[in-house]
Amino acid sequence: MHRNRYKILLSEAEIRSRVEELARAINTDYSGEELLVVGILKGAFIFMADLVRELTIPIAVDFMDMSSYGASTRSSGEVRILKDLETPVEGKNIIVVEDIVDTGLTLSYIAELLRTRNPKSLRICALLDKPSRRKVDITPDYRGFTIPDYFVVGYGLDYNEEHRNYRDICILQPAQHED
Ligand code: PRP
Repeated sequence: MHRNRYKILLSEAEIRSRVEELARAINTDYSGEELLVVGILKGAFIFMADLVRELTIPIAVDFMDMSSYGASTRSSGEVRILKDLETPVEGKNIIVVEDIVDTGLTLSYIAELLRTRNPKSLRICALLDKPSRRKVDITPDYRGFTIPDYFVVGYGLDYNEEHRNYRDICILQPAQHED
């Protein structure tokens, strides 16, 4: 029998505590302001749900869904919009929430696109950052954890759409043969 194995990289408790810290920083930085929190589907949905529940400033939420044209063209930075925002962003404080920054191509495309819509401010909040994989120069303003180049699942992140519901963030290890 072939079975993938999972090793916990970040536990539910570690994630919760870090999400609370990130929210505290955002609450302080945007004190007296309003905020539009933009989640990038699908991976960010759990992080975003936990993050916004720790925010005490007035917020609205919206979502975007992006897709690369395919693995072969991903390095060219071609990204297309599957779902755009429903909310106008002009004059608003925006935080884009991502589960992970890998090459940075998705976020750099989104940031460039949203800047053309003249927000008051635009920042990025990413739970995980894999700087070793970066192809474009982009740094999250709020970052949960910097991680090595592991394939991770859980807390919104998937492998072939599976495991998004894991409470911990786990390293996916290759399938092993078992009798
Ligand atoms: C993942 C992740 C980011 C992007 C990061 O999304 O959620 O959006 O990849 O990679 P990059 O920095 O190399 O652009 P994915 O395309 O796996 O879709 P999903 O969020 O629906 O799982």
